[in-house]
Amino acid sequence: MSKPLTLSFLRSASDAGQLPESRCEVGLVGRSNVGKSSLLNAVANRKGLARTSKAPGATRLINVFELDGEPGRWVVDLPGYGFAKAPKAQRAGWQAMMDGYLIDRPTLVQVLLLIDGLVGPTPLDVQTAEWLTHHEVALRVVATKADKVKSSRRSARRNELARGLGVAPGDVLWTSAAKGQGIPELRAELAATLRLNP
Ligand code: GTP
Ligand code: MG
Repeated sequence: MSKPLTLSFLRSASDAGQLPESRCEVGLVGRSNVGKSSLLNAVANRKGLARTSKAPGATRLINVFELDGEPGRWVVDLPGYGFAKAPKAQRAGWQAMMDGYLIDRPTLVQVLLLIDGLVGPTPLDVQTAEWLTHHEVALRVVATKADKVKSSRRSARRNELARGLGVAPGDVLWTSAAKGQGIPELRAELAATLRLNP
């Protein structure tokens, strides 16, 4: 299925405790600037839906996007980690926000862990994958910015990403928000995953 997911912005929160219950949600997690908001926009085929920026730190809140006509089925865009320029106190705040969200959402059925296809996995990516696994959060690894990696290198890069993160190469999905690669597959997966809870 390659139809865009019809998503609309529902609300933002600085604390997961402010969010109402959902039926089923998928979170987008990854380094700042890895392309989380861009991937969300590509999946929805709506460029300005989530705010993106060349400078890391574009997303500062938990931003909830809901499937149109299906209340409680959410894709959640999260602030990125590893934003070196953020002051220490702010970084700690983000960490608490992320941890709170990832641990306190009983209807969180999957996290898409986005890894920069050109540069990842970074030590923080590896740490995040371990942390999510430790907390028994179901993980799907998505390699971003495929268009920046020569096609002849993609297979080797996928193997490196998988090895670094301790998953099978087949568990890594190549995507490009810019060129559309992997977006139909991701749409189909998300559509199915968002309906895992009745
Ligand atoms: P934070 O909100 O800071 O956590 O970042 P983010 O992960 O949401 O990244 P965002 O989507 O804002 O994208 C960061 C930069 O990467 C922007 O300049 C995007 O245009 C660029 N980018 C995102 N996806 C792609 C892609 O598939 N290919 C290329 N070439 N650039 C991309
Ligand atoms: Mg963002």
